[in-house]
Amino acid sequence: MKYKTWIKSPETVEGAVLSFRKRFNVEGDVKKATLCVSSLGIYKASINGKKVGDQVLTPGCTSYDARIIYNTYDVTENIRDDNLIDISVGGGWAIGRYGLGLSTGAFGKDVCAVAELSIEMADGTVHYIVTDTTWEVYTTKVTFADLYEGETIDKTAEERYIGEAVKDGREFNLVPQMGADICENEVLAPIELIITPKGERVLDFGQNMTGYVSLKIKGEKGERVVLSHGEILDKDGNFYNANYRSAKNILTFVLDGEEDFFKPEFSFQGFRYVRIDEYPDREIDVNGFRAIAVHSKMDRTGRFACGDARINQLYHNIIWGQKGNYLDIPTDCPQRDERLGWTGDAQVFCRTAAMNFDVRKFFVKWLGDLRAEQREDGAVYGVCPQKFGSGYMTRISAGWGDVATVAPWVMYEIYNDKSFLADNFEMMKKWVEYIRGVGDDEYLWLSGYHYGDWLAMDAGEDSYVGATSNDLVATAFYAYSTELVIKAGEVLGEDVSFYRELLVNIKRRFREYFMDNGMPKDELPFTEVCPENKKGVVDTVRRGMTQTALVLILYFDLCLPEEREAIADRLEELIRDFDDRMTTGFLGTPYILHALSACGRTETAYKLFFQNKNPSWLYSVDHGATTIWEHWNGIKDDGSFWSTDMNSFNHYAYGCVAEWIYGTVCGVKLLEAGYKKIKLAPVPNRKLGFAKCALETVSGRIESHWYYTGDRINYEFTVPAGAEAVIALPNGYTETVGGGTYTYSHKV
Ligand code: BGC
Repeated sequence: MKYKTWIKSPETVEGAVLSFRKRFNVEGDVKKATLCVSSLGIYKASINGKKVGDQVLTPGCTSYDARIIYNTYDVTENIRDDNLIDISVGGGWAIGRYGLGLSTGAFGKDVCAVAELSIEMADGTVHYIVTDTTWEVYTTKVTFADLYEGETIDKTAEERYIGEAVKDGREFNLVPQMGADICENEVLAPIELIITPKGERVLDFGQNMTGYVSLKIKGEKGERVVLSHGEILDKDGNFYNANYRSAKNILTFVLDGEEDFFKPEFSFQGFRYVRIDEYPDREIDVNGFRAIAVHSKMDRTGRFACGDARINQLYHNIIWGQKGNYLDIPTDCPQRDERLGWTGDAQVFCRTAAMNFDVRKFFVKWLGDLRAEQREDGAVYGVCPQKFGSGYMTRISAGWGDVATVAPWVMYEIYNDKSFLADNFEMMKKWVEYIRGVGDDEYLWLSGYHYGDWLAMDAGEDSYVGATSNDLVATAFYAYSTELVIKAGEVLGEDVSFYRELLVNIKRRFREYFMDNGMPKDELPFTEVCPENKKGVVDTVRRGMTQTALVLILYFDLCLPEEREAIADRLEELIRDFDDRMTTGFLGTPYILHALSACGRTETAYKLFFQNKNPSWLYSVDHGATTIWEHWNGIKDDGSFWSTDMNSFNHYAYGCVAEWIYGTVCGVKLLEAGYKKIKLAPVPNRKLGFAKCALETVSGRIESHWYYTGDRINYEFTVPAGAEAVIALPNGYTETVGGGTYTYSHKV
């Protein structure tokens, strides 16, 4: 893209989608026409009335300060003699309301467009049509669009000429799209029109999802359809969306009397239910409605099924949680006034994500944003892109900032692509350097404002943060990130002796400071907890003897080998004391089953896996979930909601259990990057009946399947050609095999 003139309307029209138009003639034979386009806001580009490309919500969300993506389209077929190019732009992430603590758009009030259309003629000459002050600006039939608030499409609205475009003086770094395109995917029909006890008319699409509703309708000019969105019904079966907080998510369609088709193109909603607030005065044509799932393009790579319908539902919920939250950036949730690139959520889920789908492009782009936003001193924020907020969002927290080391390492391991390490190694080191510089003790990370073991259940019903000492958690992650820097450096052939020594010292200090006689100390000094972290009650408990602390010690290898058994015993005891349940939150949950299995406590791991009392994975399944919930008991046993302000029903983080499902239940363990070398060590369980998974890896397709027949257990494995697999069966049988299909059977 050579020409980069940003234009905007001569008059600010807040909230509306504006169209930037240019007429032009082309004489002669066109060999090739290419359009490069971007916007501050969400754009839709058309030439001669035909939308260009099949992507939606372009150009997506980046750390705009550092770079803005532009898209490139081959538009040769669109060009005629007389042409009209139209770039319609709505507020979207950059200009609309987006983020926390911001009342207006982070980049001002005016949507802006930039475009370059190059037309190469058969005779070799090239003409350029580029955004400049000769473009005309109009209002459109989309009279309002906002990511949080929703969209109004008024087919009766007059398109008003505002004037000639003016230049926007700012300069942005325009870079070509390197991420995964955002596209429309599944299309769902409503499964039911519910009349609620309150008399509301509510469409149920059967699946909590992210995207928008489309509507085909024929009515009278000026008739309206107004739709509200919700993820859940309340305990009486009435429509509920107080958990969206201030995000209204309302769609308004005004009919023009023709056969109409409506579909938002400048906003998206997170929903399963749609309340029809207004509809022409006749019977609702349910079949006119569809729900279109929108997410980044990712090829499915992981599959799993077993003999337990509830576990299959859990897996389904994990997949849909990813679809709903991988929309250009990894968001926490897709519906309320948040939808931010929370780094902690991304950190805990990225391995699962990379097993479920091919997310290479997705992470190439987002890690670029993360690098761009890393602070000079190495700090990595809780949210990326970070521009969209203040206060609460700007904390530097253990478990969140660590995405800087975890995500590049995971992407390298899964895809055997060293560029993930080469591109991000500086960021990884700088993050560790940041931690090293915090506080007085080089080897401990004490104090700071952390999100902690977010939403854990052991500090009381009303606390956002669990009971585990933030200092312990932070120092544990310090060790983990240092270890990942060492591993990455080794792959890259870097000298990592400094980090090796650092890790030895962190572990030594961890044991001195947080442990006594091979166990974590229970009472640990209280360090300040951020005020926003409290929900009602004041939590001052900072503990070392918690499930999360023990899990982190085991998983991050922070104890001596001879101490592991006793720690695993203690972990099992704490689980038993809590009625075979977990108390873990965002930072303990991802590793609890792994830590137990690694210590041979798979039976306890299975107990947690099958548990359906709160807190557990199956609790939400039993309560009708179709995606993963933010809070273990988002809906409480008595049917009431845990809260209105932190209660998303599409929050993928706890879906990270899929990693254990593939890796332990089906036993596909990665031993060498790209699955070139694997271990196949399934851990069958009668209650599951059978389990099978398939992973499309860069080395080829891996399959693992086990099932019972009478008193025998049978296995079928597929190892890709060129790969090597160590088979390790529960009866002690092991062998190493190459590519091929293998079956085994033994007595239970
Ligand atoms: C988000 C989380 C996020 C957290 C930080 C919440 O508002 O929804 O998923 O990680 O804040 O603690």
